[in-house]
Amino acid sequence: MPTPHFLTGAELDAAALARLLDRADALKRAPLSSRAFEGRTVALIFERPSTRTRLAFEAGVFELGGHPAVLRADDLQLTRGESVRDTALVLSRHMATVGLRTGSEAALAELAAHATVPVVNMLSPLHHPCQALADLMTLREAYGELAGLHLAYIGDSTNVTRSLAVLAGVAGMRLSVASPPGYSLADQAGWKPDQQAWHGGQAPWHGPGAADRLTLCTDPHDAVAGAHAVYTDVWVSMGDEAHASERRSALAGYRIDDAMLDAAAPGAFALHCLPAHPGEEITAEVLYGSRQRIWDQAENRRHAQKALLELMLEEMPGA
Ligand code: CP
Ligand code: NVA
Repeated sequence: MPTPHFLTGAELDAAALARLLDRADALKRAPLSSRAFEGRTVALIFERPSTRTRLAFEAGVFELGGHPAVLRADDLQLTRGESVRDTALVLSRHMATVGLRTGSEAALAELAAHATVPVVNMLSPLHHPCQALADLMTLREAYGELAGLHLAYIGDSTNVTRSLAVLAGVAGMRLSVASPPGYSLADQAGWKPDQQAWHGGQAPWHGPGAADRLTLCTDPHDAVAGAHAVYTDVWVSMGDEAHASERRSALAGYRIDDAMLDAAAPGAFALHCLPAHPGEEITAEVLYGSRQRIWDQAENRRHAQKALLELMLEEMPGA
């Protein structure tokens, strides 16, 4: 069996995802109930800033009995020319698992190709699958079941959107994404929502009714009609800073506010991966009001990531 990595979310099939979310719920109820990482160290390597991902992994590894080794990429000899391959080989001799946040899909792929321990994508330009796990956990907490749930996503189609698309597909949800022209998932490099699953399950957006479950459109009102939750991400992602002002103009009509939630299903709430920019992609009224589960979502990062770490350890050859 190959080393289990978690790079896009498509590695999980529906059964593995449900098992992971059940485990995340259990760990939320009893955060100190597992010692799965006792005596093990997890490297958490950040090339880009992070608040939630770092805090959730650092506290989560500690709660699992392990030691989190948090490194900025420039702490490593990588910045002095050591190859990703050699770094992967050495990390694998010391670490139980390696997390990487990077601006380079190629570096992540290279790390995973050579590591003999699990590699977790802690955010890359095109993917943020750890975020999507917490998002689905939060939706399941609210509605009990994911299959058939309708999630609307409004704004820039980011790494967060793409990972949601993958994992919402795995979960049998309906996802409607409204983005301005040029900011759609379909405009992203290599967009193909049909990657194969690590557990050999069905690719997320194939099979009966799949075409109706993922809608890409431009009008937010089309996306939110009937939606059980409305999600957004920043307008200027890490790496997009040079185009900040054109992005803000293009995305100006794509803000979650009370009127947007009124247009969704009764009881619909807002989600946001954070960090937020109140007044841009979401109003302060929604962000700090009662029609959101954003702060629960931020907490759920820890529980979901702990369940992921445990699952990957179990899936290691010879475990
Ligand atoms: N949502 C998220 O990944 O936040 P950070 O960038 O703070 O880790
Ligand atoms: N799309 C954002 C997500 C931050 C968690 C970014 O990549 O900066």
